[in-house]
Amino acid sequence: MRIAHFSDPHLLSIDGARLRDLLNKRWLGVVNLLTHRAREHKLHVFEALARDVNEQSIDHVICTGDITNVALRGEFAFARDKFELFDHGADRLTVIPGNHDAYVAAGIPLYEEFFGDLCATDPGWEWPDGAAWPTVRVRGRLAVIGLTTSHPTPWFQAWGRIGDEQLVRAEQVLADERLAGTYRVVAVHHPPAGPYAPKKRHGLRDYERFAEVIERAGAELVLHGHEHRDLRAELAGPAGARVPVHGIQSATYVGPRESHRARYRIYSIGADGETTMELRGFDSSSQTFRPEEQGLARDLGVAASL
Ligand SMILES: [Fe+2]
Ligand SMILES: [Fe+2]
Repeated sequence: MRIAHFSDPHLLSIDGARLRDLLNKRWLGVVNLLTHRAREHKLHVFEALARDVNEQSIDHVICTGDITNVALRGEFAFARDKFELFDHGADRLTVIPGNHDAYVAAGIPLYEEFFGDLCATDPGWEWPDGAAWPTVRVRGRLAVIGLTTSHPTPWFQAWGRIGDEQLVRAEQVLADERLAGTYRVVAVHHPPAGPYAPKKRHGLRDYERFAEVIERAGAELVLHGHEHRDLRAELAGPAGARVPVHGIQSATYVGPRESHRARYRIYSIGADGETTMELRGFDSSSQTFRPEEQGLARDLGVAASL
């Protein structure tokens, strides 16, 4: 079984995010932000990513949020269209939202409208009270549990919060006997462990509670985005298990910071649960993604002592 994880594409179309809309409804800072991002996050890199993923015999693709920049309807429509480049279809492609997809409160229903099929909970796993999150998708031995951390945050802040109710439900899912023996992957936008989790302005406010859930209920792998870095940490699972918590760079970044250059990771999971990783990075001379040594990317090697 092979899983591809990418994150934070921050797709941008000048058509999608018309300047007139921005000036009417947003502030000058938004225009600055988009101009800055447009220089560093490139659509052609996303197109190369989709081509590469399609050639790597991937069973399931996971994207951990920040699809858009300022959560405009035009951005969501543009981004959803680009996700069609993957051969995987809604059944084998799971996408959760990031803080940029809730840049304004209106982004949350827009996310559901455009990306709802890519995070649809399987029949039989719906929440009786109609709650949308966590989402649960089981594909053979693979179970993908998607969380949302997205809330509109004040200017210059980008923190996330899972929230008590969602945490309770996440624990129920992870401990559900129907998932016994499956490979449980939790997808969450903000880093829930490691040195970035406690950051006040852009961390995960309830990361300690998340760690408690993992310690009690376990998971095989936790994937996140948000920091645009290759981050690797661990959380304690039940009975001495160590649960890897991995972040990845933005899938579209080709700006000046080499450590942030676009990358994605493939996890190959053997019958015994043994997992091997491959890192693939964008190479601007060939305009394709190529295999990279894991160690080239920034590896903090931090095991969170939570
Ligand atoms: Fe991001
Ligand atoms: Fe983010």
